[in-house]
Amino acid sequence: MNLSEARELFPGVQDQVYLNVSLNGLMPFPSRDAVLAHLDKRVMGKAVKEELHAQAERVRELVAGLIGADPVEVAITKNVSEGLNIFASGLDWRPGDNVVFCPELEHPNNVFLWYHLRETKGVEIREILPEAGHIPLERMVEAMDDRTRVATVSHVTFSPGFITDVQALATEARSRGVLTLIDSAQSAGSIRTDVRELGVDAISIGTQKNLLAFYGLGFLYVRKDLAESLNPVFVARYGMDLGPDAHETAISPGTLDFRPGALRFELSNYNYIGLAAVEPSLELIHSLGMDQIEPHVRGLAARLAKGMLAAGLPVAGGEPGPHLAHIVAVGESGGGRHYSADDPAMNELFHHLVSNGVTISIRRGILRMSVGLYNDEADIDRVAELSRSWVG
Ligand SMILES: Cc1ncc(COP(=O)(O)O)c(C=O)c1O
Repeated sequence: MNLSEARELFPGVQDQVYLNVSLNGLMPFPSRDAVLAHLDKRVMGKAVKEELHAQAERVRELVAGLIGADPVEVAITKNVSEGLNIFASGLDWRPGDNVVFCPELEHPNNVFLWYHLRETKGVEIREILPEAGHIPLERMVEAMDDRTRVATVSHVTFSPGFITDVQALATEARSRGVLTLIDSAQSAGSIRTDVRELGVDAISIGTQKNLLAFYGLGFLYVRKDLAESLNPVFVARYGMDLGPDAHETAISPGTLDFRPGALRFELSNYNYIGLAAVEPSLELIHSLGMDQIEPHVRGLAARLAKGMLAAGLPVAGGEPGPHLAHIVAVGESGGGRHYSADDPAMNELFHHLVSNGVTISIRRGILRMSVGLYNDEADIDRVAELSRSWVG
């Protein structure tokens, strides 16, 4: 499978230029077909639990393969936020322990949980300020001390969308006994993510963006031995080890044996329709391979950034460089707004693009254009041309 064949699988590319994977990835035909097949079985009363479980395990293996993990290190969750919470709440915090992160560049769902731990467990928050849209890793490392338990970052921030050097952070953190928790909402599936290579301890992923499927399904990777040292806050049948042949309604009286690794965090029935949707997209991502996908999406983002700069527009981060992932942010402020840009001129550009069939977002007061594996050079050149003509 090559990228132009893959593009054919996405009806959403046909009547628009869709540069919005950072909100929702387009879903391919095979995912729609799998969802319809799932619905048909339910409507006809033909759904078989064993088949649903087998699908969940296939998906777990596909995700594990994508991130270089062992399947038992991958828990099936509801979303990124749940995964982050499962990890953070499973640690044995003592008052005065601290967490280091850069709240201004994190999604709110990787911020509130730490405030909650501050209120409930006395965890100290060490807030790092961004520098020119980047999470400054040196500042993060400087802030670590012997009470630092966790350093957390987004691998790619949701706005302005720069890549964090997770490997460098994890190396420094590990040498200080600090755990790394990575929000991969905006990366896995578009940016190569190998947990061993990166040396991270935990990663949370959702399926609605770069995994090209629904909201309401996610995955939490936790290194096996670490997962087994965490205490799940919620516990239910699917996290329990009752042996391979035990029915799911079985109980082992008086005992609490967890399944290995991250499987202990699972509660009960999964989002099966979400699993049906993501299996074909994961297969597509695997058949293209990250060695093909990452250079493609980052190459198109670099082409777009150059086109915007040539039109005289303010591209966050300036010329393409190692910071540039598959997201190009245009605008100057980076304030707090989600539906209108801080600069009125950028609002006009937004409306000009949208009224010409370009689908993008505004995040933190700037325009966010995000490239998916289904985009091509013609998409990028169309947006650059529309922007040039708007500048006049
Ligand atoms: C960086 C980042 N983290 C977390 C989230 C929240 O994801 P979920 O809704 O899967 O919890 C988002 C979604 O927009 C995001 O961009």
